[in-house]
Amino acid sequence: MSTAAFLLLYLMISASSVHAQRRIAFISIDCGAPSKLYEDPDTNITYSPDDNFIDTGISQNISSEYMYPNNPNLPLPASDLRSFPHGNKNCYTLKPEAGKGSLNLIRASFLYGNYDGKDQLPEFDLYLDVNFWSVVTFGNASDIVIKEIFGFAQSDVINVCLLNKGLGTPFISALELRPLNSSNYGTAFGTNASLVLFQRLDIGSSNGTGRYAEDVYDRVWSNYISPYWDSVSTSSPITTDEDGYRVPYEVIKTAARPRNGSEPLELYWNTTDSNAQFYVYMYFSEVEHLEKNQSRKLNISWNGAPLFEQFVPRYLYADILSNSKSLVGKEHQISISKAENSTLPPILNAVEIYQVMQLVESPTSSEDVDAIMNVKTTYQIKKTWAGDPCAPKNFSWEGLKCNYTISVPRIISLNLTSSNLSGIIAASISKLSSLESLDLSNNNLTGPVPAFLEELKSLKTLNLKGNQLSGFVPNALKKRSDAGLLVLRYTFSSQTEKTFFLFMQ
Ligand SMILES: *[C@@H]1O[C@H](CO)[C@@H](O)[C@H](O)[C@H]1NC(C)=O
Ligand SMILES: *[C@@H]1O[C@H](CO)[C@@H](O)[C@H](O)[C@H]1NC(C)=O
Ligand SMILES: *[C@@H]1O[C@H](CO)[C@@H](O)[C@H](O)[C@H]1NC(C)=O
Ligand SMILES: *[C@@H]1O[C@H](CO)[C@@H](O)[C@H](O)[C@H]1NC(C)=O
Ligand SMILES: *[C@@H]1O[C@H](CO)[C@@H](O)[C@H](O)[C@H]1NC(C)=O
Ligand SMILES: *[C@@H]1O[C@H](CO)[C@@H](O)[C@H](O)[C@H]1NC(C)=O
Ligand SMILES: *[C@@H]1O[C@H](CO)[C@@H](O)[C@H](O)[C@H]1NC(C)=O
Ligand SMILES: *[C@@H]1O[C@H](CO)[C@@H](O)[C@H](O)[C@H]1NC(C)=O
Ligand SMILES: *[C@@H]1O[C@H](CO)[C@@H](O)[C@H](O)[C@H]1NC(C)=O
Ligand SMILES: *[C@@H]1O[C@H](CO)[C@@H](O)[C@H](O)[C@H]1NC(C)=O
Ligand SMILES: *[C@@H]1O[C@H](CO)[C@@H](O)[C@H](O)[C@H]1NC(C)=O
Ligand SMILES: *[C@@H]1O[C@H](CO)[C@@H](O)[C@H](O)[C@H]1NC(C)=O
Repeated sequence: MSTAAFLLLYLMISASSVHAQRRIAFISIDCGAPSKLYEDPDTNITYSPDDNFIDTGISQNISSEYMYPNNPNLPLPASDLRSFPHGNKNCYTLKPEAGKGSLNLIRASFLYGNYDGKDQLPEFDLYLDVNFWSVVTFGNASDIVIKEIFGFAQSDVINVCLLNKGLGTPFISALELRPLNSSNYGTAFGTNASLVLFQRLDIGSSNGTGRYAEDVYDRVWSNYISPYWDSVSTSSPITTDEDGYRVPYEVIKTAARPRNGSEPLELYWNTTDSNAQFYVYMYFSEVEHLEKNQSRKLNISWNGAPLFEQFVPRYLYADILSNSKSLVGKEHQISISKAENSTLPPILNAVEIYQVMQLVESPTSSEDVDAIMNVKTTYQIKKTWAGDPCAPKNFSWEGLKCNYTISVPRIISLNLTSSNLSGIIAASISKLSSLESLDLSNNNLTGPVPAFLEELKSLKTLNLKGNQLSGFVPNALKKRSDAGLLVLRYTFSSQTEKTFFLFMQ
């Protein structure tokens, strides 16, 4: 075989493996599963256990009455779960292959299945990094709740966090990440917003829900056909690859038209929040071959006002229309109607509706994050320290207090009393430059009281009591304590406690 022929063969092989490569970038986690990979026969997607993505929580199985074969439609990843009885914030850390700035679909699934034998449906909050994503509530114990969001990676990693609101123990059954084309699903907010899935409908189809591998991004499409609509479809190929949305053939090949050709196709939904903002992505392709004297022209309006210019679906060619300004309000009605001089009724092939989630919360200052992460690894801290140290507000790590009055939260108090710390006092602590209170009492810390603690200019309280520290208190700290600027508690190795107060000159 000549080199050229070999090269050609190689190129053909790599071209045909593009499909497989996309799948490798998928992250598919069966939360709470025993430690081995498996392929879900329903989807051919390989699920991994969750131990590489989280270090807190407890593995649990749903109770047998909700298991296979009692529940033959139970998706495999939903038979077990991870619950979080400890800590008010627990997070999975995902590393998208495309890194910082990449757009990713993230889908979290929850099935209670009375795993704890309490028959009590919990309610908790789901966060993407430091921003609110959704409330998780259940209608019943066999209800599979699925939350999906499109989010930009704000750093190398994406944290998916479950927050305990005091309404039951949070848990999660499955977590999936799929890389998307970051030039798509753009909004006026750019990378400053995520899109929470509201509806994704394959219109006119009646053939089960579709997802991977028909959909390269593994978007899940639900069938929808109104009783007032008729289904139309084609078996001819449809050109779809001119944009990055990659609508699956199975989805675009079916459409619906109103049974009464004079009536519009209508989509309507309500929300309780009058500030809710939506983006709609509508997919069209003409699936019927039109005669010369036929035409299909659509007028599309939102709450009575035109949303797009008059639109003519192209024959066997997928087009996508989406609003450039968000649709704001409680009540939403989209009408797709036949234009006056159109001979044929309107059609719609598929639609996606998303609610905007603006990124309003700021993560902790990166300087503080680096320092506290260093403290965490140095002392192998066993607390539930997950996700962002300070944010969201009121869900800071155990033992931490933060100042939120500034645009970027800062750590102002670190309390590691009785936390089994050993070794010397870590230099990274002095990098927590806004620290006002530091409590390292009742541990096994050894070595001197380091001079670098002097760098903590805002420090007002320092408790080092109950350790095996040796030597003297550095001069600058002693001076500040003498001047009444610092409350210092310190035991020498000899066990005699010395407390310096402003009046102990
Ligand atoms: C899974 O893979 C097998 C073997 O390649 C194939 O026969 C089957 O149709 C696939 N199932 C799905 C849901 O894609
Ligand atoms: C869950 O079920 C699996 C398989 O039946 C079993 O191996 C595992 O030990 C169970 N896990 C728990 C936490 O009960
Ligand atoms: C549980 O809730 C789901 C979704 O709300 C519903 O479809 C299902 O019928 C309910 N099952 C039972 C047993 O009530
Ligand atoms: C995103 O937020 C940044 C910082 O607040 C701002 O400078 C930028 O203009 C925003 N981008 C968009 C598209 O709103
Ligand atoms: C449903 O699937 C069957 C078998 O794949 C196919 O023949 C039929 O056309 C499909 N119907 C629709 C509406 O897509
Ligand atoms: C991503 O989308 C852009 C714009 O829609 C398109 O030009 C590009 O080819 C897409 N990239 C991939 C890998 O699909
Ligand atoms: C079709 O809709 C039009 C407009 O709403 C209405 O006037 C007409 O009576 C309807 N036709 C039938 C057969 O229902
Ligand atoms: C939305 O709210 C309006 C006014 O309250 C009501 O007439 C309409 O039926 C509601 N639509 C839906 C889909 O709930
Ligand atoms: C159809 O109507 C639209 C708007 O009413 C107009 O812009 C267009 O030129 C008309 N087309 C024909 C072929 O009359
Ligand atoms: C928070 O930071 C602001 C600005 O630096 C400061 O004025 C305020 O005193 C701080 N609050 C606390 C509780 O440290
Ligand atoms: C640290 O936490 C312990 C126990 O939770 C508490 O007794 C102590 O007062 C705290 N230290 C500071 C400086 O707040
Ligand atoms: C300190 O370490 C010693 C031995 O390594 C151990 O016996 C003791 O319980 C530890 N004390 C604390 C407070 O952790």
